Amino acid sequence: MATIRFEGEERELPDGSAVLEVCEAMGMPFGCTEGLCGTCRCTVVKGFENLEPLNEQEEDMDLEEGERLACQSVIKSGIVHFSID
Ligand code: FES
Repeated sequence: MATIRFEGEERELPDGSAVLEVCEAMGMPFGCTEGLCGTCRCTVVKGFENLEPLNEQEEDMDLEEGERLACQSVIKSGIVHFSID
C-alpha cells in the first residue's frame, strides 16, 4: 500500500495508483483532470521519488522543481506528501 498525505490527512491507496481520486477526496482542487489547466499544480514536500516520472502533460506545464500535477501523478509505493501554496 502507498500513502498520500495532504493538509494533515493521510489516505492509503494501492501501489501504482493514480492519486487524483484520493487527493480530490481530501479537498485538493481539480479542474480539467487532463493535465491542461494547472489547477491541481502542487508541491511534493516529501516522497517525490515515490511518484512515477513526469508525463507529457506535466512536461508541457513547465513545472518548478518539486512540483507535480496531481491529476497526472501516479504513486509507485511509499508515502507522498503534497502541499498547495
Ligand atoms: S486538473 Fe487541470 S491540470 Fe490537473
